[in-house]
Amino acid sequence: MLAEKYYRPLVHFTPPFGWLNDPNGLVYKDGEYHLFYQYHPTDSVWGPMHWGHAVSRDLLAWTHLPIALAPDALGVCFSGTAMVDKGDKSGMFDGKDGLLAYYTITADNVPFNQSQGLAYSQDNGRHWTKYAGNPVVANPGFEDFRDPKVFWHEKTQAWIMLTTVGQQIAIYRSADAKTWLFSSFFGEEHGAHDERAWECPDLFEISIEGSKKTRWVLIVGVQRGAYSGGSGTQYFVGQFDGEQFINENTPDTVLWLDYGRDFYATQTWSDIPAADGRRIGISWMSNWLYANQVPTQSWRSAMSMPQELALKVTPDGLRLCHAFIRELEALCQHQVTAADKTQATPGAVFNFDWSEAHRLQFSLELKDNSTLVLQPMNELEFTFTVQKGQLTLRCQRHGQIGVAEFDEHFPHDFTVALGANRPLSADLLLDRSSAELLLDSGRYAITNLVFPKEGPTQQCVAALRSGEVIIRDLHR
Ligand code: FRU
Repeated sequence: MLAEKYYRPLVHFTPPFGWLNDPNGLVYKDGEYHLFYQYHPTDSVWGPMHWGHAVSRDLLAWTHLPIALAPDALGVCFSGTAMVDKGDKSGMFDGKDGLLAYYTITADNVPFNQSQGLAYSQDNGRHWTKYAGNPVVANPGFEDFRDPKVFWHEKTQAWIMLTTVGQQIAIYRSADAKTWLFSSFFGEEHGAHDERAWECPDLFEISIEGSKKTRWVLIVGVQRGAYSGGSGTQYFVGQFDGEQFINENTPDTVLWLDYGRDFYATQTWSDIPAADGRRIGISWMSNWLYANQVPTQSWRSAMSMPQELALKVTPDGLRLCHAFIRELEALCQHQVTAADKTQATPGAVFNFDWSEAHRLQFSLELKDNSTLVLQPMNELEFTFTVQKGQLTLRCQRHGQIGVAEFDEHFPHDFTVALGANRPLSADLLLDRSSAELLLDSGRYAITNLVFPKEGPTQQCVAALRSGEVIIRDLHR
């Protein structure tokens, strides 16, 4: 079996040691992207939750900072958000811009124990003070009540908070960021549900690509009933007036942000300057079905590659599409050329060093009744098939071939219908223990962990019938 060091990704965020789950408090201020995250610093399985903290100027090279929020007498620190209080609307920053963070306080041995807490920082997140009046939103009697998403709503001049309440979203308003009034619920009978609570909402306004019109997009985590089984992320498209979210699709419409098994708790950065204008998200690359069991020991779990989200008009309606952040281009130093025999012709096999990270960008054009197999690692196989003009992708993920499974839920075999056959763009990012595949200009995203038994060199087999593959090595 491979040493765990081979599984630590090179271009994805991981904790220095210990356990990581959801991204929290994503905020941009003074040239720094902040990434807080659910963190158990003293063990590599889930436990008493802290907020870990890192900063970056390009979303790729991260500097680890001391823990931002740690458990106290009220409880541990579950997921939440952070944002810039521009112009000190809360009155907590002596007229200057400061950072506010909201998190769920979870206390043991107390029924209905989840409530929402506030912390603030005057020095760009280096030190945090917990608000003396916590909790700012006490639990009125809900079994699950967590993961506050808070933002400033310009139109109605109020702070808005979304939390999950069982399988619904509760929406609150506040004028001072401390006193909150309930506005409405959203979610009953909308979208995907399972027997467990929804988690980690996000809500933002976004332009429809190529138009001046906007929509509001609501992102929600589904713990066990996702497209690929277990945890996954759905979204809704609609309107938000400061009090209510109105879904513009029929209640039974389910929109998945990613079709793979390892893309959860998606959050987006707040306060990215308007001149940049991007909506950038990041997700936890794991699944509660087996997150505690994946075969690393000193650290566990990585974040996805940050992705720019765009709302595009598609034949199926408005859809949120993904693209790897443009900053990644700077790491794509070496483009393998045809002379290196790696510009794949039909049936090509090419080798690359699996201990490096790679980006494969290709376009596919399949004839009717044809099949293309791309197997970047022994344990992962993508099969594209066209039948009767319809394109489908079958994705097969094995556990570690030849060794005992670390978890029975890990091997997986699923299919995604990609609609009418057409030339299709593909962007595949391989980074040791993950494979993120974006298809059709990001209309379909498929993120999967993979833990190869062998390394560091494997053969990538591209049994291409048509099209070509360009491999680019990623280097720091
Ligand atoms: C989602 C989640 C959140 C919770 C956090 C606890 O993965 O279950 O709902 O706040 O993780 O670590």
